[in-house]
Amino acid sequence: MTIKILEQEHVQAIAQIHEEALEGEFLPTLGVPFLEAYYQSILKDSSVIGFVYLEEDTPAGFIVGCLDTTRMFRKAILKSGFRLGLRALPSILKKPHLVRNILDTFSYPEKEGSAPEKAELLVIAIRNKDRRKGYGRELVRQLNDTLQQLGVPSYKVSVSQSHQAANIFYQQLGFERMATFSLFDKDWYIYTYDLNKHRDSRAELASIKLISPNMQHENIDHPAHI
Ligand SMILES: CC(C)(COP(=O)(O)OP(=O)(O)OC[C@H]1O[C@@H](n2cnc3c(N)ncnc32)[C@H](O)[C@@H]1OP(=O)(O)O)[C@@H](O)C(=O)NCCC(=O)NCCS
Repeated sequence: MTIKILEQEHVQAIAQIHEEALEGEFLPTLGVPFLEAYYQSILKDSSVIGFVYLEEDTPAGFIVGCLDTTRMFRKAILKSGFRLGLRALPSILKKPHLVRNILDTFSYPEKEGSAPEKAELLVIAIRNKDRRKGYGRELVRQLNDTLQQLGVPSYKVSVSQSHQAANIFYQQLGFERMATFSLFDKDWYIYTYDLNKHRDSRAELASIKLISPNMQHENIDHPAHI
């Protein structure tokens, strides 16, 4: 099992995982070919940071973050809007009401406006059969390390309120609920993650290790956050 940087070669597999893991959400309703084009497009942007969790070279889950979602989406639409539209067309012809969701998508960064963070966790998804093995936690830890190295102080993530597992997951990992908004006829929570605060906690843990290996063991077995 390894974590690697998410690359174009993983796009087919992660589009499948996205469709399976986020069934019923808006992007999967546009189809796997659309998801493939979407990831091909956004992974070309230098502000996008992604990691994939590999089990014997097969992706079991992935995470995608972005330093500035509004800017990245604008660029993706300018560069790949036509191709994305073509890939979404078969689904739109079958379900014309999806056009409203597409228009709503443009207001999404605006709706998140109550959180000042530009950096964002866009998506995390683990194959159904590989849940609760700690892969999600490891992927978030990897994203956090990278964002810290880039000097990002905090970032946000939006989660549908109906995704109970994801809401518990983020809360367990130390994300703080900041606000709510409505999109695609659903209610969403915005969480933020303060990298500076958690960096300090990790530094404290490291210093505890120097004083008492037992105390460190207790903390690692029952982490309050990552
Ligand atoms: C949310 C998700 C990414 C979690 O990934 P995961 O690899 O299963 O999570 P982990 O095993 O790392 O869990 C870490 C902690 O989160 C909590 N947690 C995760 N899933 C949970 C669940 N279904 N119920 C209760 N708590 C849960 C637990 O505290 C867990 O620690 P523990 O197993 O030691 O008790 C995964 O469930 C998923 O892909 N869901 C569908 C996609 C999605 O909703 N993505 C988020 C929106 S973008």
